[in-house]
Amino acid sequence: MADDSDAPEVELEARLAEQDSFEPPAAFVEQANVSDPGIYEEFEENWPECWERAADLLDWEQEYSEILDDSEAPFYEWFGDGTLNASYNCIDRHIENGRKNQAAIRWEGEPGETRTYTYQDLYREVNAFAAALRELGVGEDDVVTLYMPMVPELPIAMLACARIGAPHSVVFAGFSADALATRMNAADSEYLVTCDGYYRRGDALNHKEKADRGLRGVDHDVETVVVDRLGDELKHFLGQHHHDYADLVAAHEGEEVEPVERSAEDMLFLMYTSGTTGQPKGVKHTTGGYLAYAAWTSHAVLDVKPEDTYWCAADIGWITGHSYIVYGPLALGTTTMMYEGTPDYPDRDRMWDLVDKYKVDVFYTAPTAIRAFMKWGTKYPERHDLSSLRLLGTVGEPINPRAWKWYYKHIGDESCPVVDTWWQTETGGMMITTLPGIGDMKPGSAGPPLPGISADVVDATGDPVEAGQAGYLVVNKPWPGMLRTLYRNDDRFISEYWQEYSDPDADEWVYFPEDGAKIDEDGYITVLGRVDDVINVSGHRLGTMEIESAIVGVPGVAEAAVVGGHHEVKGEAVYAYVITEDGYEGDESLREKIIDGVDEAIGPIAKPEQVIFTPELPKTRSGKIMRRLLEDIANDEELGDTSTLRNPEVVEDIAEKVRGESEE
Ligand code: WTA
Repeated sequence: MADDSDAPEVELEARLAEQDSFEPPAAFVEQANVSDPGIYEEFEENWPECWERAADLLDWEQEYSEILDDSEAPFYEWFGDGTLNASYNCIDRHIENGRKNQAAIRWEGEPGETRTYTYQDLYREVNAFAAALRELGVGEDDVVTLYMPMVPELPIAMLACARIGAPHSVVFAGFSADALATRMNAADSEYLVTCDGYYRRGDALNHKEKADRGLRGVDHDVETVVVDRLGDELKHFLGQHHHDYADLVAAHEGEEVEPVERSAEDMLFLMYTSGTTGQPKGVKHTTGGYLAYAAWTSHAVLDVKPEDTYWCAADIGWITGHSYIVYGPLALGTTTMMYEGTPDYPDRDRMWDLVDKYKVDVFYTAPTAIRAFMKWGTKYPERHDLSSLRLLGTVGEPINPRAWKWYYKHIGDESCPVVDTWWQTETGGMMITTLPGIGDMKPGSAGPPLPGISADVVDATGDPVEAGQAGYLVVNKPWPGMLRTLYRNDDRFISEYWQEYSDPDADEWVYFPEDGAKIDEDGYITVLGRVDDVINVSGHRLGTMEIESAIVGVPGVAEAAVVGGHHEVKGEAVYAYVITEDGYEGDESLREKIIDGVDEAIGPIAKPEQVIFTPELPKTRSGKIMRRLLEDIANDEELGDTSTLRNPEVVEDIAEKVRGESEE
């Protein structure tokens, strides 16, 4: 490496390399929201009543009388007969508590313009837009799709939906037109809020064109609202059933919409995520349990305080943004940051520039970002004063100890705890992590399950593995933030998550997150990664089946197998092994068509890093593709057992091809 981060890297490595456990800094512990180690025992002894602690962070319209109803397990209900409104909890009550002038959202556009919404501003705009949505015909329980980049109108639309009891379904703006259509059709969603475009590395991207194409694939009528983000930079036209966001808000300026009283178990939102099959899963989250859990984990793990400036540098299009940019922090009444663009624009110090400028207290990001920062070198963070930071966090994929230590030293100055938080779209909030004011941190290991969470690592038969052995992660007890079902597909909900390790006859239900893990003598869990056909590219969760079906849709492709291969920055990269149809060449032009095909069906994040043409795929005698071998090849690892293959000879041929391509 010739980069100028070399010297400090070497020094850091020498000093920190040996250290595999870090105590929480005393100054942090002193002020932490949660610092009494007794909390673990307290939650265990007092379960499920312990979860009142989470529910108490919210204002309930009608108090619940029962915390957990497990009579229809695994269809659990939390705080079932309580009622509340999420928008009221994230906005109105902070105003009533005398904090109307505090900043709720601080937003910075990629070109540098800024916007601040106080809680009063947020109240005004959320109410006006809620009134507008009603006028468009949105009723309680109608699913509203939000297909927007990181603009303030996205959380505003989410909260406006919540106010009138309409569940939202946010579709990541980087997803393709086809992906939008699939999700709108699956949810029967008749309303769409989108925007004209946004900035990426200085370019104005046209988003509306993509939304329009998506709408053509929707099989029912849709009312569409368009936010004008780019003004003159990108002219757009509104067609029939299209409405301008600003016009709607202006028309309803000053109107107040009474927050709709929702039952705790009413759906707050749907979030589509990737699974083993090609069809995305509509994860259903509820108003009471989810919100209580997002607020509780923001309080206990992220140590969020109302006076903080808090920044989760994720995209709201994923669950991390829902729970930890919008619902958790706003329920706690803090100031939450949003940044529109990429971390390397105009230069590679943009994140640190923002931390410095806004005096960010708590920063939460993904390991893929940390690996990129590390690669770019320490000179970028060193340009800025990062001393406002009190706590750092990571989420989305395993973090290797080296990246953890780099983050701890060069961003946190060895004075901020780092929480490595394991959770999923389905869990609603964090599940496994140290509590920053209590537990020692072990780089590379997320930590113990949170208080009240019962997780373990088991073997294929469900017995706990010994310390140090790899096994499967399971969750043995329900928790308030859990998904309630897969939208309109209770059967799939059971078969995906509850079949593997439960014993329905004994009414014993065990949640299987489909991750592999290890556990150490202290009960710290290291999550190793997915054991299903899901890969994790730059912290984005993608289904290999979805990518495969996109590739097979390209004329000239007969068969395809997709696996994740190791990638220095992205964590995993997409490797596509492709068999061509008779009469087609596996050439550059087909390769490009395949890449475009994936881009079109899913989005640029899913584009293959390598397309490997092969006359055959390694298959078992029963005809199953041996993905494990394809993964070994992608990772340039020693090849596993090939003796059960029908065609063992192809494996070496494919491996040679991949090695050849990497050297090119
Ligand atoms: C992975 C993102 C290791 C895991 C919140 C999980 C992690 C999937 C961690 C969920 C972590 C998330 N360490 N692996 N700290 N956090 N994962 O649904 O494989 O987009 O199952 O939710 O990301 O991804 P999802």
